[in-house]
Amino acid sequence: MVGKTILVTSGKGGVGCSTVAARLALAFARRGVTTLLGDLSWGNPALDVLCGLAERVVYDVRDVLCARVDPRRASLPVITVQNLTLLPGTTVFEGVPGDAEAIRLFETLRGGFDQDVMILDVPKETVTVLSEFADAVLAVSDVSAASLRATAALRFSPRASNVRVVLNRYPTDREKTKIYPTVREAIDLAGLPLAAILFDDPRLPQDDETAPGEFPERPLLDAPCKNLSVRLTGGHAPLLTGLIRGRKRRKTLTQMGRRRLENA
Ligand SMILES: Nc1ncnc2c1ncn2[C@@H]1O[C@H](COP(=O)(O)OP(=O)(O)O)[C@@H](O)[C@H]1O
Ligand SMILES: [Mg+2]
Repeated sequence: MVGKTILVTSGKGGVGCSTVAARLALAFARRGVTTLLGDLSWGNPALDVLCGLAERVVYDVRDVLCARVDPRRASLPVITVQNLTLLPGTTVFEGVPGDAEAIRLFETLRGGFDQDVMILDVPKETVTVLSEFADAVLAVSDVSAASLRATAALRFSPRASNVRVVLNRYPTDREKTKIYPTVREAIDLAGLPLAAILFDDPRLPQDDETAPGEFPERPLLDAPCKNLSVRLTGGHAPLLTGLIRGRKRRKTLTQMGRRRLENA
């Protein structure tokens, strides 16, 4: 049985849900924590490509859902990263599974693997029903008002008390022409406690051109993801340390609303 289950979702598409799920899984795996990364984005999988396994997929999560194949047989080791296994998502879309089906799939995955951590990239329709069964739920949002509103509109099980927001693509340099919410304003808008802040990395889109599955160092995402992975397994790790130093760090902290960060 899987040790810890983490759901990653988002209210709005394109805000980095799959990227965060993959980078968080990578952070766990690099710390030596055996990790299963599952793609439950029905009809719109992304993690197989991100992990460099698109050409190797034989079975996917739909085959597991239909009980056509054992979950272990449907999964693939991520060749470039030790300790990381992928359960690919399905390209076939016939609507998201119903509540009972989604819960059955979740239990099958949890019982079918023995990794320390299972991270599932789930659509918002599915997180509604699964949130109460997971150890942690991360709602990914960028700092746009549209995404933060969509995050606030997410429906979780009334019994779920483990839902937090991951602010993704936080601008490191505040452009004078654009107005961004502070972290405090962002989490107020999203209506959820803060799990982590990941920064906007202009180099990330170029990763499309590097060999898939090679994860080049992206400290603006990797450092906060590593710290988040530590916090998720009960350790202490700060939100920002090691990332931005000196005057720039002070400036960034001030901009973000310092007190809230230290309390988070
Ligand atoms: N922190 C970031 N900095 C820069 N680009 C990012 C960041 N997070 C995600 N992206 C980019 O945003 C796009 C959408 O990301 P994706 O994870 O596919 O979103 P979603 O799963 O929410 O639809 C991708 O091109 C990805 O590279
Ligand atoms: Mg996605």
